Amino acid sequence: GKTIVVTGVSSGIGAEVVRIARFAGARVIGMDRNDPSLTLDGFVKADLGSAAAIDAAVAQLPERFDALCNIAGVPGTAPVKLVADINYLGLRHLTEQALPRIPRGGSIVNVASILGAEWAQRLAPHKALAAAQGFEAGAHWLRDHPVPQETCYQYFKEALIVWSATQSQTWFLEHGVRMNCVAPGPVFTPILGDFVSMLGQERVQADAHRMLRPGFADEIAPVIAWLCSDQARWISGANIPVDGGLASTYI
Ligand code: NAI
Repeated sequence: GKTIVVTGVSSGIGAEVVRIARFAGARVIGMDRNDPSLTLDGFVKADLGSAAAIDAAVAQLPERFDALCNIAGVPGTAPVKLVADINYLGLRHLTEQALPRIPRGGSIVNVASILGAEWAQRLAPHKALAAAQGFEAGAHWLRDHPVPQETCYQYFKEALIVWSATQSQTWFLEHGVRMNCVAPGPVFTPILGDFVSMLGQERVQADAHRMLRPGFADEIAPVIAWLCSDQARWISGANIPVDGGLASTYI
């Protein structure tokens, strides 16, 4: 079986990935700032929005593991700096620190969002931010290019999709490690209510009318787990919507 490191295991989508990956025979090492309620094969408690905390946490991970699922995240109701540090800069830092421990054939999965779908509208700044490599350089770039509170969640999910696609190219060629995004639509988890505060009731209603219903964590998790499997060995640099068709209504 594979060994998989999963962030955000203590709630929602991350907890569901733990459940199905362990059921399928994987060893799962969890990371979260909160204690998990599910049984794991290992757990590292860490604030994944801090580079120093991430470095200390990576030192506690196995020497080798087959996949990293970056699922931890906060909604756009959190302060912009936290959204940047947790949803983007910390994710990037953890992934860079973890890469030397992932052998050829390994897989990295980043959870983006339907709210990152409009990345092409801001491609130039997202590429510039991706080029500012390292936590500090990224934070410095963001001090010069501030992101407003109202759209920060969308901005950093877009930035994640762009970084993931661009970075995946060299990592696949040079290390044989795949990296992809999964972009869920609205999912029934504790953060769903925050999207109403972020987007306004009107936008959430409009989205709801373009969808059959919000999703459940067990409709997102299988795609994340499958991207970690060898069946997905020729998929790299992709962003896979799992949203009941919501993304297609943007076309
Ligand atoms: P959730 O709130 O149920 O779970 C998030 C987990 O991340 C929690 O266990 C939390 O403790 C952990 N976390 C947050 N900040 C952390 C930090 N600084 N350090 C360590 N752990 C931290 O949320 P959900 O819905 O499971 O979200 C998972 C991912 O899916 C997030 O990246 C979110 O942006 C994304 N997403 C969620 C959607 C939804 O409607 N629920 C829609 C689209 C994307």
